[in-house]
Amino acid sequence: MPTAPQINLPELALVALVGASSAGKSTFAAQHFLPSEVLSSDFFRALVSDDENSLEATQDAFDSLFFVAGKRLERGKLTVIDATSVKPDARRRIVDLARAHDVLPVAIVLDLPRSVLEARHAERLDRPFSAAVIGKQMAELRRTLRGLQKEGFRQVWVLRTPEEVQDVQIRRVPLYTNKKDMRGPFDIIGDVHGCHAELRELLQKLGYHINGDQVTPPVGRTAVFVGDLVDRGPDSAGVLRLVMNMVGSGAALCVAGNHDEKLGRALGGKAVKALHGLEATLQQLDAAGADFKAEVREFIDGLISHYVLDGGQLVVAHAGLPERYQGRSSGRVRSFALYGDVDGSKDELGLPVRRDWAAEYRGAAHVVYGHTPVATPRWVNKTIDIDTGCAFGGSLTALRYPEMELVSVPAHAQYAVPARPLSAEDAPAERGFDLAQFVQTGRINTRSYGGILLKGGERAAAIETLGRHGVDPRWCIYLPPTMSPVETSAQADFLEHPAEAFAYYRNQGLTQVVCEEKHMGSRALLVLCRTEEAARRRFGVSEGTGCIYTRTGRAFFQPDWEKDVLSRARAAVTAAGLWEELQTDWLLLDAEILPWSLKAAELIKAQYAAVGAAGIAALSAAVQTLEHANSRGLEVADLLARTREREQDLVAYREAYRAYVRRIEGPSEVKIMPFHLLASEGAVHSNQDHLWHLGLLAKLAEADPQLFGKTAHRVVTLGTADEAEATAWWAELTAGGGPTMGEGMVVKPLVFAPEQPRNLQPAVKVRGREYLRIIYGPEYTRPEYLQRLRARALGAKRARAVREFHLGLEGLSRFVEGAAWERVHECVLGVLALESEPIDARL
Ligand code: CTP
Ligand code: MG
Repeated sequence: MPTAPQINLPELALVALVGASSAGKSTFAAQHFLPSEVLSSDFFRALVSDDENSLEATQDAFDSLFFVAGKRLERGKLTVIDATSVKPDARRRIVDLARAHDVLPVAIVLDLPRSVLEARHAERLDRPFSAAVIGKQMAELRRTLRGLQKEGFRQVWVLRTPEEVQDVQIRRVPLYTNKKDMRGPFDIIGDVHGCHAELRELLQKLGYHINGDQVTPPVGRTAVFVGDLVDRGPDSAGVLRLVMNMVGSGAALCVAGNHDEKLGRALGGKAVKALHGLEATLQQLDAAGADFKAEVREFIDGLISHYVLDGGQLVVAHAGLPERYQGRSSGRVRSFALYGDVDGSKDELGLPVRRDWAAEYRGAAHVVYGHTPVATPRWVNKTIDIDTGCAFGGSLTALRYPEMELVSVPAHAQYAVPARPLSAEDAPAERGFDLAQFVQTGRINTRSYGGILLKGGERAAAIETLGRHGVDPRWCIYLPPTMSPVETSAQADFLEHPAEAFAYYRNQGLTQVVCEEKHMGSRALLVLCRTEEAARRRFGVSEGTGCIYTRTGRAFFQPDWEKDVLSRARAAVTAAGLWEELQTDWLLLDAEILPWSLKAAELIKAQYAAVGAAGIAALSAAVQTLEHANSRGLEVADLLARTREREQDLVAYREAYRAYVRRIEGPSEVKIMPFHLLASEGAVHSNQDHLWHLGLLAKLAEADPQLFGKTAHRVVTLGTADEAEATAWWAELTAGGGPTMGEGMVVKPLVFAPEQPRNLQPAVKVRGREYLRIIYGPEYTRPEYLQRLRARALGAKRARAVREFHLGLEGLSRFVEGAAWERVHECVLGVLALESEPIDARL
């Protein structure tokens, strides 16, 4: 056992300080660890019983101590247990806890001479027991000390003299798996399996310079091998030589694969079954000579289970790794990383059953892995399997990170026969959309909000809507959320007023919001592709360069209008330089398209115009008749006054809807008012604030002012004079009586998608007093009606808005990551499903 002037302590460990009373454990802990890192049994005795020497409280004290220790380890915090721990039983509990959290158990033993301890004990007033207790504890420790490693402690440090204790340095060292400091860029390479020629070809394609067996990466780049370098292919020795050189020179990292590990065991003299090409690998190594074989053995012994890279944003493991195991260290972490989620059961072909951990993955880091050959790599929840079965005649694939670009070379030959065809494992996209599965009541998991429950009936309704009336679903990658009105105004004369919007976001802890003019048009999503080629590649469509659809997924325009608008929109994007600025060849815009009458002509004719015409005709006749009666001296003055008011209300109502009606002759008169630049290649822009969105979109209006308009807006710092100014702006925007009357404004957190609070409204609308006549009827401002309207219930609308917002973004993230179509459409349909339950349409 080492005696140590320096202890290299893993940064994440459960440390047991072991030693008899007065050995100096608490003193040592105070010198080397944060107070919050140290959990002492005395302290917990006192916590539960007010007496730190109470033996009777031992059980409760340890239960609480281990509870807290568990919580700390769960959160990835180094933890030190300061208790005597001289008995194996006490230590077993520590080892078990460390294993349960996949952290390393470490023992630091203070085994000082008995005389030293007894002298210290004699000085202490806080230990009212006899020195004989110390003797017993020391005997127990010394009897069992040699077994500590066997008990499961991965490091055992023993300090035997006061000097050693005094001098020892503790250095916290990163775990082997922790390469967070390496920021990339990386070229992550799938299972090579002895395909030496293909590997060289792939490296060259990636821009690596190869000279003999020496490989130089493009400046700044590092290769990362996902393991399984050997077996099946023709030249495992050649692959090993190349990769070992790369790792040796720092050109590459490599994690352990199950085939590599098995080769390691064979080289170490263990009896392993030489299946799956291992025999050939061993022969090649024999031929390569004993020295090389020894180097290979050492190399494989040193392979780490997985790496956490790029500040924690990237994980590479041979068979993948769920979030709870990332950056942790234990037998089961290694087993998962090498073999996947297996429990020993076999399927009908005798292959181990691997549970599909990726489908459940909700972690923040991207996980790149191999192990299970697939015909084509596909993103599933930020995970991607890049083993494209080169040895089986598929291809050898690399993922460029952070570019997220796949580069591959085809196999030169089929070197081995797979137990099952690759395409059969390439399930999701090939399977198409599983209707029967989708209409089951259940949750859709979103990374920003968690699970969102959708009932079977709602799901079926969504499929009906999109299936019957929708655009080609490949364009329909997103549907926008509904928007709740602001809380009903406290002011007598208003139903909606900005004051409540500001108060709402203030109370939610926000400091800044943006107020955007609310265009009175119809909501539209615009997918714009730079070329037909880009549309084919990214959206899988056979023709067209984009699509404009409504918030329920229907075509916004008839085909010839759409074509015209799309081509001008695309030209504006080109002129504005957005393709280059965003490094993309497609865009998704969220916009309002004017005039309102474009989509709402029927509604206006059948509902608003009819009410206006009939109402004004009837009321003006009534007014005339009453005036007549009044002049003849009949008692109708009150009724006349009220009828006149009603007539005025109707005139105001007619003016309100007329403000938004404009007959247009052709698509050249269409106006697009974009307000969100939702996504482009590789990015969902929900991490950008609204000023970024509006700023980029303003460039479109500058490029083509005929087609695009700017969205007027202002930023409000809550709790300042900004609020009053924005309120005045709103009043001005929405003032009645003329063709410029605005609908109102939308208030949003300045940050597009704040992480907290979870239920925060992504936006609230504050509609104008006059505009609301269209919604609530001509006379809604009369006190008796306003009074009744105040009771409107917003809860359901708000809950829906939040869920739809997060579902929409989830679907977009999945699309951007290249997830299978059904995983994107699950979210799109989810938004529609939430829309299918009736809520008061006036909200
Ligand atoms: N002490 C000392 N010199 C040291 C270490 C400790 O004189 N290098 C003294 C402390 O001041 C204390 C006593 O020895 O009075 C016991 O040390 P402590 O760290 O409290 O020992 P523990 O191992 O924590 O003892 P217990 O198990 O009783 O808590
Ligand atoms: Mg102590």
